[in-house]
Amino acid sequence: MSEKLWGGRFTKTTDEMINEFQASIGFDKRMYHEDIAGSIAHASMLAKCGIISEEDRDKIVGGLKDILARIEKGDFEFDVAFEDIHMNIEKRLTDAIGEAGGRLHTARSRNDQVALDTHMYVRREAVEVEKLILDMQKALVETAEKYSDVIMPGYTHLQRAQPILFGHHLLAYFSMFSRDFARFNGVYQRADIMPLGAGALAGTTFPIDRRFVAEFLNFENIYTNSLDAVSDRDYIMEFLSAASMLMVHLSRLSEETILWCSREFSFVELDDAHCTGSSMMPQKKNPDVSELVRGKTGRVIGHLMAMLTTVKGLPLAYNKDLQEDKEGIFDAIDTVKFSLAVYARILRGMKVNRDIMKRAVDEDFSNATDLADYLAKKGMPFRQAHAVSGQAVHYCIEHHKWLVDLTMDEFKALSPMFDEDIKDAILPETCVKTRNSLGGTSYEQVDLQIRAAKGLMDTE
Ligand code: ARG
Repeated sequence: MSEKLWGGRFTKTTDEMINEFQASIGFDKRMYHEDIAGSIAHASMLAKCGIISEEDRDKIVGGLKDILARIEKGDFEFDVAFEDIHMNIEKRLTDAIGEAGGRLHTARSRNDQVALDTHMYVRREAVEVEKLILDMQKALVETAEKYSDVIMPGYTHLQRAQPILFGHHLLAYFSMFSRDFARFNGVYQRADIMPLGAGALAGTTFPIDRRFVAEFLNFENIYTNSLDAVSDRDYIMEFLSAASMLMVHLSRLSEETILWCSREFSFVELDDAHCTGSSMMPQKKNPDVSELVRGKTGRVIGHLMAMLTTVKGLPLAYNKDLQEDKEGIFDAIDTVKFSLAVYARILRGMKVNRDIMKRAVDEDFSNATDLADYLAKKGMPFRQAHAVSGQAVHYCIEHHKWLVDLTMDEFKALSPMFDEDIKDAILPETCVKTRNSLGGTSYEQVDLQIRAAKGLMDTE
């Protein structure tokens, strides 16, 4: 018989290489806290239902707490021969307390045990990610407020389009992160369902109390189908999907940061403490953090694809393929948390070159829409006004001028509908101030957005 906890029907010990290949202890040990909490709940339930004695429960709970303390002190050796976190802890428990330890696994399988641990782990980490999203949102609002009067060119097709407030641009990201926050809330809810009691796949012959375990571990819901309970990895795919979308948002912001701090744009300057240099080119100050966040986005999306692909052909119920859920989600959790924390820092340390941004608006035709709007407001059909404004731009290009440089005679030659007030109507400040439609870039609307953002953060 092999020394494994499941060794009874085996006549040989497991091949070393096979041990190594199938073990998950190298990565699932990070769920030790959940595994111990789950086992304490299970043992308490078994005793409460008269399945094990209260003495055995006390021995089990005491032994588990001792193991927890040892792991936290770094005084616990994980052994690849015992495959995973579940068996490492159970083996050590039994070595320490004897027969009572052998009763812990009554009415339980590793299939529902690993599902329980992973649900608790994901549920906890969803909350951690939410906290970091919130801090990122705070950093965005702080920066928007700090530079509330800064005007920059807004872009479409990466061509200067219309003047906007820098704060308006940042608050677009605030909105994206609000949706991310809501998605992680959804992930929490889908992870907040208790699988223990499903056994290996079909339930158990013991008179267990699943509600007791759910309450003990603060679960809102209980799986109502044992096959689903041990095979469901939706909450993991949902986490990875929410994480991917969040990373896509961070990646877009990273791309913009990289552009903005290039010499060509020079819109912002990152803190020296947040950049790196080059080993050869002494002048370099590189936005490595933004590049890495952009790069790591691919890796998180990869984990989502891997998980979807792993699950897509799996017959019910548990299959060992499902062990592949862990490395991806653990890495996604680490990556998302680190990226969020680092990016909030980047934002807080960023300096904005307001004059350069303003010059980009002044030395440009991004007020051409306002010229057309001016004529349309005087009664000219917009299509015609658009054409006149286009001609004005063409005229300026030919004569090396900007629209604000045109004389009253030149305006009149383009259309007799122009009056003196056209000069004010196409100033960048006016272009911004007058885009006062709900959700627009005016000072008033951006101020409303900031106030709404603060209100939302109080409730998130
Ligand atoms: N380490 C395994 C996993 O992560 C635990 C469940 C193993 N169950 C089994 N019947 N082999 O999925």
